[in-house]
Amino acid sequence: MAIDLQTVLDSNSRLANVKTPLVALFVGATSGIGLGALKEFAQHASDPRVYIVARNAKTAGAIVEELHVLNPRGRYEIIEKNVSLVKDAEAVAEFVKTKESSLDLLFLSVGFVSLDGRQDTTEGLDASMTTRYYSRIRITQLLLPLLRRAKSPHVVSILAGGMEGSLQEDDLDLRQAKNWSVARASVHSATIGTLALERLAAESPRVSFVHAYPGMVATPLFDRLASGIAGFILRCFLAPVIRLFSRSATEAGQRGLFLATSARYSVDDGIVPLGAVVTGGSLQKGVRSNGGKGIFLVGASGDIADNEKVLMPLRKRDMEKKVWEHTEAVFDSVR
Ligand SMILES: NC(=O)c1ccc[n+]([C@@H]2O[C@H](COP(=O)([O-])OP(=O)(O)OC[C@H]3O[C@@H](n4cnc5c(N)ncnc54)[C@H](OP(=O)(O)O)[C@@H]3O)[C@@H](O)[C@H]2O)c1
Repeated sequence: MAIDLQTVLDSNSRLANVKTPLVALFVGATSGIGLGALKEFAQHASDPRVYIVARNAKTAGAIVEELHVLNPRGRYEIIEKNVSLVKDAEAVAEFVKTKESSLDLLFLSVGFVSLDGRQDTTEGLDASMTTRYYSRIRITQLLLPLLRRAKSPHVVSILAGGMEGSLQEDDLDLRQAKNWSVARASVHSATIGTLALERLAAESPRVSFVHAYPGMVATPLFDRLASGIAGFILRCFLAPVIRLFSRSATEAGQRGLFLATSARYSVDDGIVPLGAVVTGGSLQKGVRSNGGKGIFLVGASGDIADNEKVLMPLRKRDMEKKVWEHTEAVFDSVR
């Protein structure tokens, strides 16, 4: 069932009813969908304490200034790290642990798509997959103890929920050059992302996990698809056409906050005191993947995405376990 924007906005505005301070970490909110969600959160949370990961703290300073205008009661802190390295992702989580004892919201939207080919990091991983999978999962894993201490903890990953596909099962990080392609890196990030989040959800049943596909959103993502002449052509000709058919980053951010706060995507009754959010018969509680044991897989309009046709055979072949063993081996290798 598609969720109309007014329902989203009404629900988000109810966040102001929560009078206890809400602590949130945004990874990927220096631009695009994450930035939209961050502004929506700052605007509606009555007493937010927000950590924002940025590759460049100086550039992100302007965002913090804007947040202070939106909500002067909020506290905003930049963590200067580049999570295209798993090590930096670990440092982000460790930093938050030194500052907070619990975490209400983890919003993950970091990532990019590059037509330039595989970009190896110093850790030997593809940077596009690290930002979209490895670092997101590492931060989530390390912050689970804090999330478990929150009243109604939520993890939202903006990527491609419901669009999982088949895997190159013997090369999950697509290390072999013959296996890497833009499409495969995207499908792998989404598919192993869902399987890993399902595993973390099983370990932490009180934490609500959402993996969402945001639809086509007009963000700088499309300006950065390629470098050189190809990039110039794409920026001049393709990006403007894509924008015509895309929703704004503001709306995508509003929808992102809805995913993070509505009882529809909560294992409990949600951060927001309920009432109109789930009653009235029109907005039912969402159903989680894996027969209700998994996570909320959400499509572009807030609809619950059913991708069991792809996911069930993977689970039957024990791919969740294999993905997790691979992921832990990668985490061990960068220590
Ligand atoms: N926009 C869409 O239509 C769409 C559709 C489906 C899925 N998605 C996915 O949704 C997520 C958010 O997309 P968006 O449109 O909001 O993108 P965006 O505006 O380009 O924002 C991406 C965020 O990731 C960070 N980032 C990008 N490349 C990075 C790198 N190499 N190392 C570290 N950080 C990096 C950016 O930081 P800086 O500000 O420092 O660059 C920014 O905070 C992405 O994973 C994207 O693949 C987007």
